[in-house]
Amino acid sequence: MQHHSWNTLSVEEINHLMKDIPISWWIAGGWALDLHYGKQTRKHEDIDILIRSKDFPVLKKYLDDSYELFVANNGILTKLDDSEKRTGTSDSLWVRKKHGTSWLFEIMLIETEDNEWIYKRDNQIRRPVNEIGITTDGGIPYIKPEIQLLYKGGSSVIREKDNKDLERLLPVLKKREIKWLYHSLSQQFNGKHAWLETINNKIKGLPVHALIIGGTGMLSGTSLWLADRSKVSIVARNEAKMDRMINKANPDSSITPLFVDYKDSAALKEKIRATIIQNGPIDLVIAWIHSNSNNALDIISYEVAKESPSWKLYHVLGSSSNLNQIKNTAVKTYPGCQYRQIQLGFILDKEHSRWLTNKEISDGIIDAVTYDREVKIIGTVEPWDKRP
Ligand SMILES: NC(=O)c1ccc[n+]([C@@H]2O[C@H](COP(=O)([O-])OP(=O)(O)OC[C@H]3O[C@@H](n4cnc5c(N)ncnc54)[C@H](OP(=O)(O)O)[C@@H]3O)[C@@H](O)[C@H]2O)c1
Repeated sequence: MQHHSWNTLSVEEINHLMKDIPISWWIAGGWALDLHYGKQTRKHEDIDILIRSKDFPVLKKYLDDSYELFVANNGILTKLDDSEKRTGTSDSLWVRKKHGTSWLFEIMLIETEDNEWIYKRDNQIRRPVNEIGITTDGGIPYIKPEIQLLYKGGSSVIREKDNKDLERLLPVLKKREIKWLYHSLSQQFNGKHAWLETINNKIKGLPVHALIIGGTGMLSGTSLWLADRSKVSIVARNEAKMDRMINKANPDSSITPLFVDYKDSAALKEKIRATIIQNGPIDLVIAWIHSNSNNALDIISYEVAKESPSWKLYHVLGSSSNLNQIKNTAVKTYPGCQYRQIQLGFILDKEHSRWLTNKEISDGIIDAVTYDREVKIIGTVEPWDKRP
């Protein structure tokens, strides 16, 4: 038998196999992190499915006709007898086709008590079972990234690929997910683990108070994303639009609406001052301001710089803007400001072109903020004569 010859099922094939089996299941391992990240980032040797150990007899019944299951224990694989419903102390099974030679997927068993998932290496660490997974837009369930990273970081052997997974995922995790990972690893290892410093630096580096000008229209997705990471103040005029957006935010997020016409300099100044008093200094500004209101950016920058020694300004600009000219002459630089530009372009597809969707705009801004890009062009602005 070739123990280590893998010819794994794809994520879609696993979904097809599992979707009619009446138990909860989640893709785990490196694939779960890639599903969360939104694309495959590296080659995966195997594919893991997580299920509750009490559901194992049901899964086995469904797989019995065409598959063979082997219990993996300390590097030894033992075939599970047709009648056996339990796996002994092992929580890992390898699966192949009956009489097949290569492995298709691995089943990992989790313990639960009173509908709570229990982390096997420290049973103080628990989460309600209905909160350990999420689904992709296509409906494929996978284990939450912070839990998967705990499984990786909590293992006795951390491989280079695990370090890389942490590095890649930290920028896309929400603040409370990062904090949960930090506290869980700290709990398991009594505050001494190689990842804790990196994770803590990430928490400290998150913006504390972000200000978004024009965050209720096409930047709504950006506002909601930021609200999962920091306190957010949003400048806009229309209360109904603001309410619709806030209703989509997580209940524990902190969004302060600043209802003001940014062309009204005195009122704008007052609102910015008030939110700094209420929520603290602003360390991140995302500004989508119409070009007939240039004064607004000056007022905002002046007020922010007075209270913040170091802050970032992401200036969102239209397709026809001249970035260099704006950077060099049209925008005043204020102390502590790290000035960044994001230009909204268009999408060119062979001979056809179209303007960006709101989602493309918000995703592009999220990318610029996540990776702190000095200049980001969403879509393209060239060739200019091919614009819609
Ligand atoms: N390149 C591309 O692909 C692309 C794609 C989409 C749009 N665009 C360009 O963007 C333009 C549409 O953008 P938009 O700005 O109408 O869309 P928007 O982002 O959907 O709305 C503007 C945002 O700014 C706020 N706002 C506007 N004027 C304000 C003021 N005087 N005071 C305070 N807040 C104000 C709005 O809130 P309130 O409504 O509450 O005031 C809203 O939050 C189009 O003209 C198009 O040229 C380009």
